[in-house]
Parts: sequence; structure tokens; C-alpha cells
Amino acid sequence: MNRLLLALVVALALTACSKEEAPPPKAAASKPAPERAPGDPKAGQKLADAQCKTCHGADGGAVAPGIPHLAAQRETYLLAALKAYKEGKRAHAALKVIAEHMSEADIRNVSAYYAGLPPVGIVHAAKDVHATPYERGKSRIAACVKCHGEDGNAGAAGIPSLAGQQANYLIIALQEYVRGERKSGPTHSAMRELTPVDMEAVALYFASQTPGQRTPPQNVDPGAGAQLSAVCSGCHGVQGIAADSATPNLAGQDFNYLVDAIKAYRTTRKREKMRLYITGLSDADIRNVAGFYTMQKSRPSERGQTMVRDLTDKCDRCHGAGVELPGMPVPKLRGQDRDYLMMAIRAYRDDRRESTTMHKMSLPYGDSIIESIANYYSGQPAN
Ligand code: HEC
Ligand code: HEC
Ligand code: HEC
Ligand code: HEC
Repeated sequence: MNRLLLALVVALALTACSKEEAPPPKAAASKPAPERAPGDPKAGQKLADAQCKTCHGADGGAVAPGIPHLAAQRETYLLAALKAYKEGKRAHAALKVIAEHMSEADIRNVSAYYAGLPPVGIVHAAKDVHATPYERGKSRIAACVKCHGEDGNAGAAGIPSLAGQQANYLIIALQEYVRGERKSGPTHSAMRELTPVDMEAVALYFASQTPGQRTPPQNVDPGAGAQLSAVCSGCHGVQGIAADSATPNLAGQDFNYLVDAIKAYRTTRKREKMRLYITGLSDADIRNVAGFYTMQKSRPSERGQTMVRDLTDKCDRCHGAGVELPGMPVPKLRGQDRDYLMMAIRAYRDDRRESTTMHKMSLPYGDSIIESIANYYSGQPAN
């Protein structure tokens, strides 16, 4: 009996749920059965050439962006992925049909084949790909710096500083300007050229800057302001630094801007909650509370410059080279197709692909950060 046939017979004998129930061969009984039958890479190659090559390439490197490379992927993960498609746990129309037609032995063989191939080379990133969302944000602010400052610290009275501001609040503000929901002059027309990913990146860039210290404004009573701020602190934080990233920090903000902004909630700015809290304030109260917040020390609310590195360090606790987690098949990410990685992470985040672990991991991240993580991993040599 040739090796291929022998492997097939042994494999069949060990798969209880296989359709073709073959009687166990005598030879198999003499040896203790292994935990899992090893796949036969040669048989796997035959199947791959016939059914997978058109998409996953002759060398296990994907033929188009958005398709995962399979070469050198972990065998345990490939097995788990194909089973997940077969059982409908992972939704993908084509792969479900393909996997349904594969026997358990086919799955083992093809997994062994792809896992044994050398990794594909790195495809170099396109021109407009920035290493981090921070870099991308920095490249999109040319139209903003004359008013808001290169580092987000505005110089002129009445113009808000963006340095250290909460990232999600900035994103909301940008979207409201673009949609015309927040009143503004022609000053913000350049924002219309920003894509949603750019907006996130610009927000992250400014949020990561260090706010400067303000000089005390004239003719205000910050002590009285501190007392008035008690009702504000539940949302804006005791010292004007909000705990929630969608609520703006007020600490270190420009005095005139704060006065204007508070008054704007009486008229043009629509936010019922804010209106409720400021209706009782006199003009003098507004100046005092604004004065109190202006003098509070602020700090960066994000760490954009190091964020992607910090994050991938976290990811590598499971996805790192040589990390083996018993009972948890973890895929390799280094050298994987960039578009596929972005799609996969977004699918976990948006609950379109099932994995409690990965859903939790990806939930906090916007598309610009996901893009940067994908840039990072796709640009690393496969391990
Ligand atoms: C029509 C194109 C196409 C063909 C043919 C195809 N695949 Fe795929 N494959 C894909 C795409 C696209 C994905 C990503 C699907 C998703 O998002 O879940 C994928 C995903 C996979 C994955 C999961 C990889 C990962 O990193 O999670 C495995 C394993 C796989 N395919 C194996 C195979 C095998 C084995 C065959 C042949 C028997 C095959 N595929 C045939 C397009 C194809
Ligand atoms: C001509 C000066 C000027 C330019 C240029 C400008 N801004 Fe502004 N920006 C302002 C002023 C004034 C305000 C406050 C009044 C308002 O809402 O329009 C403001 C408000 C903002 C706010 C809301 C801040 C808050 O605390 O609510 C954001 C965010 C912002 N700008 C971002 C940008 C971005 C991004 C650009 C570049 C695409 C830009 N701005 C260009 C003057 C400017
Ligand atoms: C229930 C929570 C809550 C309370 C209490 C609250 N705020 Fe706010 N505040 C918000 C939110 C949310 C926003 C952002 C609204 C928006 O997008 O316009 C905001 C916006 C602001 C702004 C505009 C900041 C900017 O950068 O444009 C100022 C100024 C402000 N609040 C001052 C105050 C003061 C002063 C008080 C207390 C008298 C107060 N807020 C109480 C939730 C609150
Ligand atoms: C606690 C362990 C753990 C951590 C930490 C973790 N992952 Fe995962 N990851 C997994 C597991 C397990 C899977 C396989 C889930 C499945 O079967 O779909 C996975 C799958 C993935 C996939 C799908 C790859 C493919 O080939 O389809 C991507 C992409 C991914 N993780 C990215 C990340 C990123 C980015 C981070 C860091 C922000 C991260 N992971 C952190 C355990 C982890």
C-alpha cells in the first residue's frame, strides 16, 4: 500500500463521523491511535490545486487584496477556521459551500499542506499609507494650524484649543460641522475634504498634544466659579477633565471660547442636557465658571504617537511569535494581507464574526486605528 493510501485509510478509521465508514484496518489496532490524525500534505496539495488555488494562490499567497494568505498559517488555526465555516459558525457564503464539501480528512490534509508552505513575501504598502493614525492626522491639518496651532494650542482669543481634547468629542464636533448640524462660518469648509478615517486621525492627533497653561483671565472670581462648577463636574470632571471621551474637557480651554460656548447653548448649540445646566447662570456666573476652568491644568487625552505599538504589544500576548495557548487556536498575523486584516478586525468589532475574545479586543477601536494595526502586521515578515 502506498503512503498516501495508507494515510487515507488511517484517517478514515479515526473519523467516526466520516460518511464512508470503513472498517478499521488491522494494522491500526496494533498502534495506539494518536490524539488527532496528522494531515497528508500531498493529498492536501492536490485538493488545494483543484479547489483553492484560484483565490489562495499556488503558493498559498492570496491572488487579490481581501483574501487571506494561508501559507505558513498555524495548522491548528486552519483546522479550526475550516470547521467553523463547515458548521456555519463563521459566515461566508463561498467558504461555507467549499467547506461543506470537504471531509474531515480533506480538512486535515489541506491544513497540513498550507501550514507547511513557506510564508509569502511582504507586499509593500501603497504610497498614502501612514504608519500610524497619528502620522495620518498630522498630514491632514494644514488648513487648521493657522487658527488652532500646529500642536492644537490656539493663540487667539475666542478660538478653542484642540490640544488634549477628548478624541471622541472632537470626532463628533467634526461630523456636526460637516453635516451642518453645528453652526460655523466658512472657516471649517476644508473639513468636507476629510474622509471619516481622516477625521478620526485628526482627532487622535490633536487629542495626543500637550495643552499649554493659561494665564488667569481679568475680572473674574475663580473661587465663585469653582463652586458653580460642582454641578458640571459629574460630566466634565472635578478639574475639567472628563472621564468619558465623548464629553469635552474644559480644563485649560480658552476663556473667551468657554464664555461663548456656554452662551451658545442658550441659542444655537443644541444639547438638551447642557441647556438644562446653564439656564440658571447669569453672565457673571458664566465668566466665573469659565475662569475657573481656564486655569485648570490639562493633559493629553490620548497617546497617539505610541498607541499602535502599545496596542500591538497587547495583541502579541496571543498573536506573538512562538505563543501557544492550549485549546485556543490563534492565527498568525504577521505578513497577512492588509485588507483582509482590516476586514477581519472590523468584523469582530461589529459582531459579524464570532469570537468573544476578539470582540472585546477590537471594540474600542475606530477604523483609522484598525487600518494602522493592519498596516503594521501586514508589513512585518511572517513568523
Ligand atoms: C472564491 C475564492 C476562494 C476560494 C475558491 C477559496 N477561498 Fe478560502 N477564503 C476566501 C476568502 C475571501 C476568505 C475570507 C473569508 C472571511 O472573511 O471569512 C477565505 C478564508 C479562508 C480561510 C480562513 C483563513 C483565516 O485567516 O481566517 C481558510 C482556512 C480558507 N479560506 C481555506 C480555503 C481552502 C482550503 C479552500 C479550497 C478547498 C479555499 N479556501 C477556497 C476565498 C476563497
Ligand atoms: C479661521 C480660523 C479657523 C480655522 C482655519 C479652523 N478653525 Fe476650527 N474653530 C475655529 C473657531 C473660531 C471655532 C469655535 C467656533 C465654532 O464652533 O465655529 C472652532 C472650533 C473647532 C472645533 C470644535 C472645538 C470644540 O471644543 O468644540 C473643532 C473640532 C475644530 N474647530 C477643528 C478644526 C479643524 C480640524 C480645522 C482644519 C480642517 C479647523 N478647525 C480650522 C476657527 C478655525
Ligand atoms: C449631564 C452632563 C453634563 C453636565 C452636567 C454639564 N455638561 Fe457641559 N457638556 C456636556 C456634553 C455631552 C457636551 C458636548 C455637547 C456638544 O457636543 O455640544 C458639553 C459641552 C460643554 C461645553 C462646550 C465645550 C466645547 O469645547 O465646545 C461647555 C463650555 C460646557 N459643556 C460647560 C458646562 C458647564 C459650565 C456646566 C455646569 C454649569 C456643564 N457643562 C454641565 C455634558 C454636560
Ligand atoms: C487573548 C488572546 C488574544 C488577544 C490579546 C488578541 N487576539 Fe486576535 N485572535 C485571538 C483568537 C483566539 C483568534 C481566532 C478567533 C476566531 O476563531 O475567529 C484571533 C483572531 C484574530 C484575527 C483574525 C485573523 C484571521 O486570519 O482571520 C485578527 C485579524 C486578530 N485576531 C487581530 C488581533 C489584534 C489586532 C489584536 C490586538 C488589538 C488581537 N487580535 C488580540 C486571540 C487574541
